[in-house]
Amino acid sequence: MPHLHIEKFNEISFPQTEDGVVFNFMAKNVNHADETLISTTVDGDEFFLLLKEEEGKNLLKSDKLTRPASIFNVHKALLTYAKVADLNILASNVPEHSKNVHLEEVNALKDIGFFAEEFMKGSQKGASYSWGDKNVRIEVGFGSGRHLLHQAVNNPDTLFIGIEIHRPSIEQVLKQVSIQKLDNLFVLDYDARLFLELVPSNLIEKIYVHFPVPWDKKPHRRVISTSFIQESRRVLQVDGRLELRTDSENYYAYSYETFIAFHKTVLYINKNKDIAISSKYEDRWKKQEKNIYDVTMINEEESPLLKLEGSFDFVEAKLPHAKIIELHGATQKFDGGFIHFERVYTLADGVMIRLSMGSFDKPEHLYVLINENRVSYYPLFPLKSKSNLLAHEFLNRTLHG
Ligand SMILES: C[S@@+](CC[C@H](N)C(=O)[O-])C[C@H]1O[C@@H](n2cnc3c(N)ncnc32)[C@H](O)[C@@H]1O
Repeated sequence: MPHLHIEKFNEISFPQTEDGVVFNFMAKNVNHADETLISTTVDGDEFFLLLKEEEGKNLLKSDKLTRPASIFNVHKALLTYAKVADLNILASNVPEHSKNVHLEEVNALKDIGFFAEEFMKGSQKGASYSWGDKNVRIEVGFGSGRHLLHQAVNNPDTLFIGIEIHRPSIEQVLKQVSIQKLDNLFVLDYDARLFLELVPSNLIEKIYVHFPVPWDKKPHRRVISTSFIQESRRVLQVDGRLELRTDSENYYAYSYETFIAFHKTVLYINKNKDIAISSKYEDRWKKQEKNIYDVTMINEEESPLLKLEGSFDFVEAKLPHAKIIELHGATQKFDGGFIHFERVYTLADGVMIRLSMGSFDKPEHLYVLINENRVSYYPLFPLKSKSNLLAHEFLNRTLHG
């Protein structure tokens, strides 16, 4: 995580632009005076910088929730803020000349908004995806990317979407995309379980889930679950497949039970099957002579079109700002989900809330801005899922007063 260790924080005036970086506004955590967010825009990427006191150190770094598409934009924002505010930097892991020629050339890294737009386009009559009529395959948690890159190189007429939440893995793969000049691979930094909820029905040829984290102690964090399988069946073409590969006997047994619980299902089970490319994890397990299990689910049915009615618009907020601040820590549960007011912030002319909301096993974390009585999600809308739409209705009612 790029960060600057600074002697002391200096505030600047907002808004302010320097070297193409716009500092929009500042938000101060009401309950933790040691946390301040700075809204920043670089090349159309909008995100927060976070000023935090940790272990007696003042750190200026990027905020995890609003991760921008480009790490260079974070580097640029940090260094520019330090310059404008005349900060004394004690230590830093931000390169002064950070552009990596490989990463600079690559535009394979896409944000969730790109896919939301593409999928909406694809569902309109006469419109087509930017990748034309290519077959689409998804790899969930590609790690070092060996399998994903191998597939993309060997299937140039197929579009691959690689989804990961580990930033260094993403950057490693983007570098290879540039070196190998691949034009059939998109990379997304997002929770794959949420992503699937956005994908149109019957679109995907294959979903690979290779060596997912077993999460023996926190099973709700697992990728494979009843709802993930349900969504996979919906997004897969007829004869499309979901391929799980795992070294964990426990995860295999859990997954098998979860797959077989469906009323109708076609599964193939393999033990110690060799595949064309062995991932870093696979090599490690093979050296330890562990067994490797494959569960392949074939989808046999065409699914109805994805229809999510509703919007994320807000009516006027009538709840006074002081009352909004009091929502801190509150949780509201409803059938199929919840909303939790994690943190509250004050702005120069309003308040901001940090929420977790949606379904219990894969909640979204978001910011909501309330300037006077105008309310908006910031910087991005939640994903259009059933549980998020329900949570939104509740939030809209609460803020309306
Ligand atoms: C054990 S590694 C396996 C990596 C790779 N598939 C391999 O075989 O080497 C699991 C990967 O899944 C990623 N991951 C875990 N949960 C995820 C999720 N919900 N969405 C996307 N990626 C996820 C982790 O960051 C990690 O890189």
